[in-house]
Amino acid sequence: MRKKIIAGNWKMNRPEGGAMAFAKELAKSAPKDVDIVFCVPFVGIMPVAEAVGDSGVCVGGQNLHTEAAGAYTGEISGEMLAAAGAKYVLVGHSERRQYFGETDIIVNQKAQRALQSGLLPIICIGETLTQREQGITIDLLRMQTKIALQGISEAEAAACVIAYEPVWAIGTGVVATAEQAEEACAAVRQVLREIYNDQTAEKIRIQYGGSVTPKNAAELFAMPNIDGGLVGGASLKPDFAEIMNS
Ligand code: PGA
Repeated sequence: MRKKIIAGNWKMNRPEGGAMAFAKELAKSAPKDVDIVFCVPFVGIMPVAEAVGDSGVCVGGQNLHTEAAGAYTGEISGEMLAAAGAKYVLVGHSERRQYFGETDIIVNQKAQRALQSGLLPIICIGETLTQREQGITIDLLRMQTKIALQGISEAEAAACVIAYEPVWAIGTGVVATAEQAEEACAAVRQVLREIYNDQTAEKIRIQYGGSVTPKNAAELFAMPNIDGGLVGGASLKPDFAEIMNS
């Protein structure tokens, strides 16, 4: 049985009432049988890690550089994230791809760097509305997954999380149906079988992300190939507690 994993992606936002108080309060209602991750802005990693204490909630970064260190003004390394208390890091979120020119190759380099830094990458993939309408969703997900995992061993892959996030569902209030999300996640699981093997594919957790709310979370997370969610907007509100317990 794969352990479910629910991650909140705060993006460049502060939750209601301030990061530390919010994280501390939410951590109290975090279920113990689900991995909960708060992916917070860089400066919040250390204080939020302190705020959640030994509740079992983990902290994650939202991005890292492909290199371990160097003259990259304004960037942050995986090692720095880990030293600050992060356990996970988002890689290749669609906003990184859209606004910061991250390609599948860069996503692969970042995923490898995350693993080398002792972080567990949450690798984001997903199609735009145009791509869905063109009928290339599954082809695209297969390609994104294959490139993202190049050079990553079976053992390392088992620790990675894949987040399927249709771009048209992110921040739009338009959620994929549970059937659409399951079809995509099942296709990703199939490509994982092809890259690695059945055993490894069964270990890798696949999340759904895109307009997840307390209303739709339970139905999505109940699908056989959906192992939790990556939640943006709704992770900034106290009722994220409901999603964590869905
Ligand atoms: P959303 O964002 O839940 O606000 O749609 C999801 C994400 O960007 O990960």
